[in-house]
Amino acid sequence: MANLKKFDCFKGRTIGITGNTGFKGAWLSLLLNQTGANLIGFSNENFTNDKLFRVAELNSICPTTYGCVTDYEKLKSWIIGNKPQLIFHFAAESIVSRAQNDPRNAFNTNLMGTVNLLEAVRQADFNCDVIIATTDKVYKNDERGKAFKESDVLAGSEPYSASKVCAEFAAQAYQNLILQELTTSPYRKRVISVRAGNVIGGGDWSQNRIIPHCIEACLGDVPLVLRNPDAIRPWQHVLDATHGYMLLARHLEDQNFYIEALNFGPYSSDFLSVEEFAKRFIKCWGTENTEIALKNSKIVESKILKLDSQLSRELLGWAPTFSVSMAIEKIVRWHKGYQHGYSAIDLMLSDLTDFFGEIS
Ligand SMILES: NC(=O)c1ccc[n+]([C@@H]2O[C@H](COP(=O)([O-])OP(=O)(O)OC[C@H]3O[C@@H](n4cnc5c(N)ncnc54)[C@H](O)[C@@H]3O)[C@@H](O)[C@H]2O)c1
Repeated sequence: MANLKKFDCFKGRTIGITGNTGFKGAWLSLLLNQTGANLIGFSNENFTNDKLFRVAELNSICPTTYGCVTDYEKLKSWIIGNKPQLIFHFAAESIVSRAQNDPRNAFNTNLMGTVNLLEAVRQADFNCDVIIATTDKVYKNDERGKAFKESDVLAGSEPYSASKVCAEFAAQAYQNLILQELTTSPYRKRVISVRAGNVIGGGDWSQNRIIPHCIEACLGDVPLVLRNPDAIRPWQHVLDATHGYMLLARHLEDQNFYIEALNFGPYSSDFLSVEEFAKRFIKCWGTENTEIALKNSKIVESKILKLDSQLSRELLGWAPTFSVSMAIEKIVRWHKGYQHGYSAIDLMLSDLTDFFGEIS
């Protein structure tokens, strides 16, 4: 893939991914593997939504150390023992409803897991940059429909977003501390937060997300139950988000490059309601009779979420590649292909080829 050539700088580099067994971690592992990077993963053994990681046999390209990010010593020995030059920190309680059911776990994982990682990096006697995946939900949201910029005020209204805001504050505090310590430490360490939208793609089997629900409804001829049909979300393919993270990592090759946080969202035409997204998915799957049913939900969620990603465009030259309609087509093709016996890894590679073929 010619367009992956620009990432040749990762060849032979040791790159760590926490949360490598999750949905985004799986796709990023494959992308980075194509660049020749030497990958190491750190993930929770008890995580149950690792089907993509398992069926695509990604442990062979990203060997995993199993442990909890709240276990500082284990996380530290993974970092110190492997000396990664860059870490993508994805390990998190990533599901809004689960975070509301168990807020202590969400804060422990999302805040203290991040603090543990940053403290271990701070102690390391080698260069190490950290890219932390937070979320579009970290912005103080008055529901007026503004597309948030990186400089907007952060605030969380429920445990998931609040724990991610806490992780952002920890990242800023550690970055300041590391800068102060530069006078006594020769090692370069930069901490950057990345805020993506509602990430979708083939192989997302998490029972708390919309794609598996859409597929179940289309396959089973049962109604698709939506808990928040009018909510507006910035939908984007997982390759668009992970490609943005990789472009950021490539810019870190320039020792003078630094930015506190970057948004990676779709074009404004892809800020769609949950119901509109579901209708497009059902149409693309080809079962136009699938009904949409509504469910009263006790889950606290923002109604309108939009991201302004101009800064990523200006600084990195990043832009969305797949529209939401293209993303839906890829997901439908992926899951129908999987049902027909194609291997997960071949389906992922085929999406990757299409993605890099679209980039001019
Ligand atoms: N998927 C999205 O739409 C989306 C959008 C914005 C931001 N994010 C963020 O991106 C990151 C990755 O998201 P995802 O969709 O791949 O999530 P996921 O739920 O699919 O994967 C989570 C990963 O974190 C690991 N993990 C969870 N708790 C852990 C713990 N205590 N110790 C060690 N590892 C632990 C799991 O093993 C798994 O590998 C998360 O930080 C998430 O909050 C996701």
